[in-house]
Amino acid sequence: MNGEHLEVLLTREQISERVKELAESISQNYEGKELLLICVLKGAVVFLADLIRNLRIPTQVDFIGASSYAGETSRGEVNLAPLFSSSVHDKEVLIVEDIIDSGLTYRALTNYLARLEPANLRLCTLLNKPSQRRAELIKPDYVGFTIPDKFVVGYGLDYNERYRELQDICVLVT
Ligand code: IMP
Ligand code: MG
Repeated sequence: MNGEHLEVLLTREQISERVKELAESISQNYEGKELLLICVLKGAVVFLADLIRNLRIPTQVDFIGASSYAGETSRGEVNLAPLFSSSVHDKEVLIVEDIIDSGLTYRALTNYLARLEPANLRLCTLLNKPSQRRAELIKPDYVGFTIPDKFVVGYGLDYNERYRELQDICVLVT
């Protein structure tokens, strides 16, 4: 189909090992506390599912929709759709993201969440693409992998809603 093909960038084994390491440091850093994970839909759901099963601390989960992308190009504006079932106020909140690219989604999320006055607001992202950064000074607290400035799919990440089901993270070559 129109010359698109996939090249594996991170294997399922590499991802699984790294997710366990991230869960371990989160469990240590939040020891004795209760954590509210806010998963950014839809890309981060696969990551969230693996992450929570490796945590050793009590957690709640909530979701927020965030969209800014049409195909490979960011439109620059971010739409947020919170689906919260509990209050964020005074909670230890960890945003769970699939990927930080320009940082615009992250900036919109933190602006929105900070107004809800959590006790603490941190960011865990599976992938970090720092070369594309437009919103300066974003240092995620937990990063799975820093990747080159390539468009990737799989393990929850999509291209126009396709490829989320892939177990490896792949570069989409067009
Ligand atoms: P940002 O606002 O530019 O940081 O973009 C963040 C969002 O764009 C992510 O949550 C993804 O949904 C999407 N995105 C950015 N880069 C990629 C990619 O390489 N593959 C798939 N989705 C991406
Ligand atoms: Mg996303």
